[in-house]
Amino acid sequence: MSKPVEISRGLYWVGVKDWNVRNFHGYTTVRGSSYNAYLITGEKNILIDTVKAPFAGKLLENISSIIDPSKLDVVISNHSEPDHSGSMPAVMAAAPGAVVIATAKGKETLENYYGGGWNLKVVKTGYSFESGEIKLDFVATPMAHWPDSMVTYWKDREILFSMDAFGQHYAAPQLFDGEVPRDVLMHEAKKYYANILMPLGKIVKKTIEALGGLKISMLAPSHGVVWKENPGGIIQSYLDWADLKPARKVLVVYDSMWGSTDAMANAIVKGAAAKGVDAFLLKLTANDMTDITTEVLDAAAVAIGSPTLNGGMLPTVSAFLTYIGGLKASGKAGAAFGSHGWGGGGAKAVEEMMDEIGFEKVSGAVTCRYKPEAETLKMCEELGAKLAEKALDAGSIQV
Ligand code: FEO
Repeated sequence: MSKPVEISRGLYWVGVKDWNVRNFHGYTTVRGSSYNAYLITGEKNILIDTVKAPFAGKLLENISSIIDPSKLDVVISNHSEPDHSGSMPAVMAAAPGAVVIATAKGKETLENYYGGGWNLKVVKTGYSFESGEIKLDFVATPMAHWPDSMVTYWKDREILFSMDAFGQHYAAPQLFDGEVPRDVLMHEAKKYYANILMPLGKIVKKTIEALGGLKISMLAPSHGVVWKENPGGIIQSYLDWADLKPARKVLVVYDSMWGSTDAMANAIVKGAAAKGVDAFLLKLTANDMTDITTEVLDAAAVAIGSPTLNGGMLPTVSAFLTYIGGLKASGKAGAAFGSHGWGGGGAKAVEEMMDEIGFEKVSGAVTCRYKPEAETLKMCEELGAKLAEKALDAGSIQV
């Protein structure tokens, strides 16, 4: 379904569903995505955001089924990342008289990507666009998640066009939150937050505070479904995620060469589970890194293990640590572990990176030579128990 849908009187979703995208700059999008664009018709015709460049034809077809695209008066660019601005050149070619509304950084980004020549109106928080019965207010939300970002609020309808915020990489035939399975929707919303917005918790909270006075009956993001049934619920989830509120959950993330680090990982999980927390074994070669990161978001404690390869850790473990380091997954209890043969270094390298990221160590790295014997496995179980105790102390929300 990529046909326009009237979501409020005179307001149409005219975006596209990208059913087949599976990699969104490194983010694994198992359910595809959508690029949501919205058309307000009236005395003036207003387009809010466009879609990824390859779908420009479909966007124009959708607009054409409602109005002649040349009759567009205004194009609002809430966010100039190419998944939302890629079709701007095609739209502006169809509607050369339209005014483009963006923040100063948005103008700069659009001009850098597509050159100048459009009639660009720069706005900031407090500016409004008015035409007949339509009044749209703009609120700049810099670094949530690009410097250019802003949201557009239609006060009379209580609709917030929230660009990437509250989005999900989720192509579904339906368009509203109440029409899709809630567990799938919340999983995709959480995955989106974890893999894109996790490093921006403070900014997310500040943004939500800035929007705090707005009555919101509908949240219309740039990806995924529109929140109409319970927009307040996803706003509260964002506040919880922004605080990295921990659940009583211990993760054991690792890779193994010949089964020794694997045996240690199993013993850590056993020790944690015995304390009554949720404990998950997540081997890096058996799980997608973006899915593991979704679990990291609200885990109270994480053990990370690697055997030694060439005096350091395995590249799979290094890539994972680099990824969650960039996402600033800090403040969690943690510990490193891993086996080695004639020379160590793997677990130590893991520990150093965990220190840099900001894990709170519950013990030094647990290591073993060649194969863990009963004594090492007992130490691993004890490590799992220590991590679980931290999770029980810290854990405040359900998984
Ligand atoms: Fe969906 Fe930041 O672009």
